[in-house]
Amino acid sequence: MTDNPKIDPTTGTETTGHSWDGIEELNTPLPRWWLWTFYATIVWGVIYTILYPAWPMVSGATAGLLGYSTRAEVAAEIERVDLSNADLIDSLVTVDLAVLRDNEDLHRFAVQAGRSVFAANCSQCHGAGAGGVVASGYPNLLDDDWLWGGTMDDIAYTVRHGIRNEEDPDARFSEMPPFDWMEDAELDATAHFVRSLSDLDHNATAAAKGATLYADNCSACHGEKGLGNREIGAPNLADAIWLRGDSQEAILRQLKAPRMGVMPPWQARLGEAEVRAVTAYVYGLGGGEAAVGDAEAAPAE
Ligand code: HEC
Ligand code: HEC
Repeated sequence: MTDNPKIDPTTGTETTGHSWDGIEELNTPLPRWWLWTFYATIVWGVIYTILYPAWPMVSGATAGLLGYSTRAEVAAEIERVDLSNADLIDSLVTVDLAVLRDNEDLHRFAVQAGRSVFAANCSQCHGAGAGGVVASGYPNLLDDDWLWGGTMDDIAYTVRHGIRNEEDPDARFSEMPPFDWMEDAELDATAHFVRSLSDLDHNATAAAKGATLYADNCSACHGEKGLGNREIGAPNLADAIWLRGDSQEAILRQLKAPRMGVMPPWQARLGEAEVRAVTAYVYGLGGGEAAVGDAEAAPAE
């Protein structure tokens, strides 16, 4: 402000009195609408900081009169989802697993939930796509070749108690003994016979000799024709699916120093609802089997 306002002759506007090389600065007032909008934002800002959390303090921020909190909002949202799922969870933990897939809504809910349970707890061993890892003896869960059984109840049991672990006394258990007492030629012959069971390249003379050794030492667990035995998780040796590899070397390695797969129990870690959900998910991956006496075939999902 100058005490002695000077009017610019060309525009008729007051000048600030500043002049650079004869060029003078006009003192054009702000438009009214702009000014009022500006005041309004200040008022809005003040009201906002009173109503909502705003000013940072030593620990946390001022809470605001409305008591609003994004954290509380998320918690409420989670509670709302849990409540809306409560009925489904209740039904899931009580339903007879053999008929779960007859209840479309419940089945869909279980498979969705089971997918996340699998990603978080199972994929590190069985693979993100459940394809397994042959080198480590982590079985493929996509096929219909089951070590321990592929009905809903079989899978649920495997998941609940695990396999050959020390934590759960009800874990599935069996042990293939080492055949390191056999002579090299005998081991070789037995391995040739094992390969002949699934029509892989083999030496027919050796395999014929191996047949007797197999019948005496292996058939009790793997079956006369090598079809395996689910009671004890003994793999089918007559199909194209191998837990530990189908090469002569891989078979010899298993005979001399058998490796046994270990899986942890999940009952305590996951709880009943999640065990059932992940069971429904694994079952639906492709290899699920109908329960004995269930006339309906397994789903083609
Ligand atoms: C630490 C590794 C590991 C984890 C984690 C794991 N598994 Fe396994 N699982 C195995 C191994 C090893 C076997 C095979 C054991 C054997 O040789 O009999 C197996 C076997 C199975 C089988 C039996 C397959 C058949 O052919 O009968 C099912 C079903 C299964 N797992 C499901 C799951 C599910 C579901 C989860 C997650 C909740 C899970 N596994 C987590 C290692 C694991
Ligand atoms: C007491 C039961 C038992 C006996 C006896 C036994 N096995 Fe096994 N065998 C098993 C089990 C259980 C497994 C699965 C091990 C695992 O979890 O990886 C297995 C796995 C194998 C495998 C790996 C299969 C694959 O899919 O990769 C071969 C090969 C095999 N056995 C061959 C033999 C031969 C040959 C004999 C006889 C000389 C024999 N086994 C005797 C129980 C037995």
